[in-house]
Amino acid sequence: MCGIVAYIGTREAYPVILKGLKRLEYRGYDSSGVALLNGGLKVYKKKGKVAELEESLQGVDLHANIGIGHTRWATHGEPSDRNAHPHTSASGKLAMIHNGIIENYAQLKQELIKKGYVFHSDTDTEVLLNFIEDIQKNNNCPLEEAVRIALKRIVGAYVIVLIDNENPETLIAARKGSPLVIGIGKNEHFLASDASPIIEYTKEVVYVNDYEIAIIKPDELILKNLGNERQTPFITKLDMELAAIEKGGYDHFMLKEIFEQPQTIFDCLRGRLDADAGTITMSGIEKYADEIIAANRIVMVACGTSWHAGLVAEYIFEELCRINVEVEYASEFRYRNPVINKGDVIIAISQSGETADTLVAIENAKQKGAIILGVVNVVGSSIARASHAGAYTHAGPEIGVASTKAFTAQLAVLTMIALKIGYKKGTLNHDRYLQLLKELDAIPDKVASILQSTEAIQAIAEKYKDAPSSLFLGRGYNFPVALEGALKLKEISYIHAEGYPAAEMKHGPIALVDESLPVVFIATRDSFHEKVISNMQEIKARKGKIIAVINEGDEQSLS
Ligand code: BG6
Repeated sequence: MCGIVAYIGTREAYPVILKGLKRLEYRGYDSSGVALLNGGLKVYKKKGKVAELEESLQGVDLHANIGIGHTRWATHGEPSDRNAHPHTSASGKLAMIHNGIIENYAQLKQELIKKGYVFHSDTDTEVLLNFIEDIQKNNNCPLEEAVRIALKRIVGAYVIVLIDNENPETLIAARKGSPLVIGIGKNEHFLASDASPIIEYTKEVVYVNDYEIAIIKPDELILKNLGNERQTPFITKLDMELAAIEKGGYDHFMLKEIFEQPQTIFDCLRGRLDADAGTITMSGIEKYADEIIAANRIVMVACGTSWHAGLVAEYIFEELCRINVEVEYASEFRYRNPVINKGDVIIAISQSGETADTLVAIENAKQKGAIILGVVNVVGSSIARASHAGAYTHAGPEIGVASTKAFTAQLAVLTMIALKIGYKKGTLNHDRYLQLLKELDAIPDKVASILQSTEAIQAIAEKYKDAPSSLFLGRGYNFPVALEGALKLKEISYIHAEGYPAAEMKHGPIALVDESLPVVFIATRDSFHEKVISNMQEIKARKGKIIAVINEGDEQSLS
């Protein structure tokens, strides 16, 4: 994942691009760069964070009204100054930024080397750029035409934005698989990977579709498909505020997002769940309710934390709806030629709505006749648009790379869908349905009260921060939650952590337990509670250190 920003208009381009890159650093931060056009093409790039680029440009004349910028997360070629974007073409007249992966770059590179091209980086991006330039040279055609011809041969995912020293009034952009938003201002346009760099300038945006090329001048936006036909730009109004994407007094976005959960879960339930009336309103799901009820199976497709949300949902759907559920890693599902039958229901779960594996997985399944429902956070994102219907999670922008508030919002949405379907299908009786609606309605307040115990949580973190390894255990619904806990610890603290079903401990991993190993139990009072307490005893017998997440007043777990 990389972040791209571009500007064309009447303002100074550099400050707009720089601020945008800082907002997009969550997408990648191993190097960054800008290219500006002002009586010549100037490219500045640097290994490291955007702040290091900024520092290196102190005192440099950066005046320009058109420019492109990039913050990188390396895929081809190590993080370095020379692999940083923007890249320049062999002639030096074009510069390009790219987010995505060009899968057939090696073959194209060989063809270009045979023609005498020399490469100055290890990136697939430089290959694509020179491929475009070569086509333009051979066909003596406008840049947009060369881009169009080139993209027909490209295998992979991309958002690209090009500037041309010989045509300083125009940006050319294109996308397939990676996100591109264009903000429309008065005599100016803003381009970015998501809306966060754009929102303070304009709320009118166009989400560019796959296989579209955008020709952007200060006062004009033309969209064409790869068949060279004009497309009508669909203008959407952003409904988020700038404050929602800033840190709001917290040291880290992740911390801010953890503390936002009472509100985000509430926002997710709001307007849908009416516990007093006993109703759940979700129009996207209602439209497909009969198909979901009739489905032989539901397949949850997702990656990372969203996959864990799918695993929790498997328990919920099977219990409440009595429908067979499978949960698939999108990266495996898309490549394995899975058996998909007409009428299968696929639920794609994604915070960003842009995860390439999830997107391709659902596109493949759609072609085979499956019904695709999206549980997505980012409105207008690729997965949302590729789905037949679905429900947004409404968690607001999640900037922290390690997902938190999106996970709980996903669980809230998936639970509402299961409640709705189970009740309509008759596998969930009226009393239990009403009881569960009330419980769900109470969740935001419960989360708020848990977030008041930060001192106790900090004390535990302080005590175990130097542990070399740890285990997270749970049973039933809490098993996937344990997996998610272990993932968060690994990703954020670099402490090795493993999630396990508590009952599986005895089949091997228990050998690891000694007095140096913290073992986190998710041991809420449910039908497995007694069994989980027995599992705790097994750990205690081996002197493992137990950290238990339990219900208030649960003396039994403390004994
Ligand atoms: C990873 C993120 O890269 O992508 C995870 O670190 C996230 O937090 C995963 O769960 C899947 O992303 P998404 O946007 O499809 O939910």
